Amino acid sequence: MNAGSRIVAMGHYQPSRIVTNNDLAQVVDTNDAWIRDRVGIAERRLAVNETVADMATFAAEKALANSGLTAADIDMVAVATCTSVDRCPNVATRVASRLGIAAPAAFDLNTACSGFSYALGTADHAIRAGAARNAIVIGAEKLSDFTDWNDRSTAVLFGDGAGAAVVTGVPEGEQPGVGPVLWGSAPDKGDVLRIEGWRPYIEQEGQIVFRWATTALAPFAIETCERAGIKPSELAAFVPHQANTRIIDGIVKRLGLGPEVVVAKDLVESGNTSAASMPLALSKLIERREVPSGAPVLLFGFGGGLTYAGQVIRCP
Ligand code: UT7
Repeated sequence: MNAGSRIVAMGHYQPSRIVTNNDLAQVVDTNDAWIRDRVGIAERRLAVNETVADMATFAAEKALANSGLTAADIDMVAVATCTSVDRCPNVATRVASRLGIAAPAAFDLNTACSGFSYALGTADHAIRAGAARNAIVIGAEKLSDFTDWNDRSTAVLFGDGAGAAVVTGVPEGEQPGVGPVLWGSAPDKGDVLRIEGWRPYIEQEGQIVFRWATTALAPFAIETCERAGIKPSELAAFVPHQANTRIIDGIVKRLGLGPEVVVAKDLVESGNTSAASMPLALSKLIERREVPSGAPVLLFGFGGGLTYAGQVIRCP
């Protein structure tokens, strides 16, 4: 039995097509200043012809290469996504097939923007229980398939991409690198963020989501740190869901994080990529060597459902 798990490596993928705020202003009645002021996004990446499974595979491939493990070592593939247009087979088996992972437990999980932390928590529990040895946990989204390009209130917000983590067991006597997950939801508010019906587009009551995110979530983020036995001031980095810099700044303030704590703001260049946003942002911080190996990082996701989840991890 393992004492827990840790992330050994990350990888990410973003499409090559960059769409700036000024590009969008050619399509809908918006402008660069409004988007930067109200949301914090400067540009986003939109898929050219990549599917969710393509992007998930590319990110997982890089994470696996960075991990030193091989496909034969992996016995679980978990994909957090809310934008796969294919109902079956799921994205996880597509990824496994393309990476040559022979017979893993393979499942998709949909808790929208909090999905990566839900999937990481699930993989961690499976590894603790001895139900898996090594897992690939992926967040992958193609929100452009569900964007109404005539609706300026949502069209400026989203992007496409994927991030992946290779998670492995930590034996008894060693310190786990994935802290206890805190997860939950506010199902009574489910209707304020929707991708419903056919053909679905993203719709949201932005102000209600904004108010919930800036009032209800900070106590949960603090509790996530408590469960890991760490004070927010001891964090090396904070990687929240990348929806709005004003939401991120509000939570940072409530956590009392000082300037020495690295705060991910990848949405500036990537937009809101839902379940992909946290692994994408974390993978880039690691690639740029902005967070030292072993340092504590708070992940905290929130979004459709409404759902939330987070955990403190040790940086790979
Ligand atoms: O990832 C899932 C979780 N989702 C979130 O966390 C989203 C949370 N919500 C938000 O981030 C913000 O509510 C938004 C960024 C979505 C919107 O910002 P806001 O400050 O709440 O704007 P608003 O919807 O109250 O709109 C203010 C004004 C309106 O004009 P009037 O009625 O004051 O004349 C809108 O019509 O801004 C207008 N507006 C825009 N103007 C230029 C709305 N969208 C745009 C736009 N460009 N793209």
